[in-house]
Amino acid sequence: MVNTCVTLCGIPLDNPVIPASGTFGFGYEFAEWYDINLLGTFSFKGTTREPRYGNPTPRIAETPSGMLNSVGLQNPGIDAVISEELPKLRRVFRKPVMANISGFSEEEYVANCARIDGQEQVGWIEVNISCPNVHNGGMSFGTDPASALAVTKAVKAVTTKPVIMKLSPNVTDIAAIAKACEEGGADGVSLINTLMGLRLDLKKRRPILANVTGGLSGPAVFPIALRMVWQVYEAVSIPVIGLGGVTSAEDVIEMMLAGATAVQVGAANLVDPFACKTIIEDLPRVMEKLHINSLEEIIGGAH
Ligand code: SIN
Repeated sequence: MVNTCVTLCGIPLDNPVIPASGTFGFGYEFAEWYDINLLGTFSFKGTTREPRYGNPTPRIAETPSGMLNSVGLQNPGIDAVISEELPKLRRVFRKPVMANISGFSEEEYVANCARIDGQEQVGWIEVNISCPNVHNGGMSFGTDPASALAVTKAVKAVTTKPVIMKLSPNVTDIAAIAKACEEGGADGVSLINTLMGLRLDLKKRRPILANVTGGLSGPAVFPIALRMVWQVYEAVSIPVIGLGGVTSAEDVIEMMLAGATAVQVGAANLVDPFACKTIIEDLPRVMEKLHINSLEEIIGGAH
């Protein structure tokens, strides 16, 4: 019998597979399809202080082996997440959930994190400093080490739960940003968010997305994500969550060998709502084939 358990910032997971924020709603939507308690955990949709309708449409464009999104942090706002979404989730999910928090100012990150920290079902707080689809927020905090450090420190001062900073690949040196987060007291980092991209409509001779640019995700970005996980693992001592184009149990193992303690699955959920279930069910067979007894033992094993 192989062992798929890992520990993420002191909290045990039955397996390292985590649906990524923005691809799994608030979880209960997927519970209509399968028992979501088989997941390691999942990260819910990025939550801001105010409700947001997101960017104008079109906000999705297909690309070879991937997609661009410019959703723009559509979410019902933190009050509704606490009063409506989490109670609905509690009925179908018995595990700690990862709360994904966004903001447009340091003060908003702090306020949102302080509030979500008080929610019993929240296990980890994933702080999104990497959304490429909004102005004056999101990615602007995650592309400069000093801002990343400041947000991390400010959020850590008002929280008791593990704080995971979600990093942008749209930087020259992602390891420098990761190190700044570690210095600010982060308990972990997750990477990568999407890569900024563009597609044009040839007939209209205009951008396809109303927001002009969007974030690229899907299998096309996997080697870039893997390279960045590798670099960050070598730069910091805190746990790394790997994400970006993961679609199979083999990809999960590759991410872990590069240094990931846990692995998020994003765009694959939009292609197939059962993607995470399939990956989790495939893991023991693939581990046996590769002579892996315990996933925890292979973290960073390729270095
Ligand atoms: C979005 O809502 O625009 C996507 C979230 C993100 O990329 O951080």
